[in-house]
Amino acid sequence: MGEQSMGSRNRSRSPSRSELKAEVKTLAASDARDEEVLRRVVRLVHDAHPLWEWSGIYLLVDGTLVVGPFAGSDEPPEHSRIEVGDGVCGTAVAEDKNQLVEDVRELDNYLACSLSTRSELVVLIREGGQIVGQFDIDSDERGAFTEVDEVLLEEIAALISPRVASLAAARAASRAASRAADCAG
Ligand code: SME
Repeated sequence: MGEQSMGSRNRSRSPSRSELKAEVKTLAASDARDEEVLRRVVRLVHDAHPLWEWSGIYLLVDGTLVVGPFAGSDEPPEHSRIEVGDGVCGTAVAEDKNQLVEDVRELDNYLACSLSTRSELVVLIREGGQIVGQFDIDSDERGAFTEVDEVLLEEIAALISPRVASLAAARAASRAASRAADCAG
């Protein structure tokens, strides 16, 4: 297969950290809607890391983690809603702490979205001191993540946190509106 036809995932050179952050900064400041910005940020981050099999953002909506934009699969993950305290994602919120899991098979509270996943990184996204969401990244390779990856995602989280907060608030408002419509109807 020629390099051209292999898709952006396999481009010959991954962007440097500073190029990646510059692209995220530009996207965050653009006129595009929150969902579109975050979809493109997730895609950028995912494509820059060949070992990252699934990359996504969960939004904290009314105290529950709800899947937002993701890359690495066409279908939403099996665990598209996660309660605080459950799995690696919910533990990050409950403990207010990022989770870097070298081998998910050593955990007893792991929620499997793919049977081939071996390691996972969850980095919290905060706005105004409050958790508004998280990056969740899965790899099929054991020990795929390092603190360097964690710091990169923390830096990107700081650039996009207003967008994440805004999308989480919109999801909460739309849930409230549909609950009100159910009561009225
Ligand atoms: N493994 C996560 C669930 C989310 S999927 O990996 C996308 C967990 O244990 O919380």
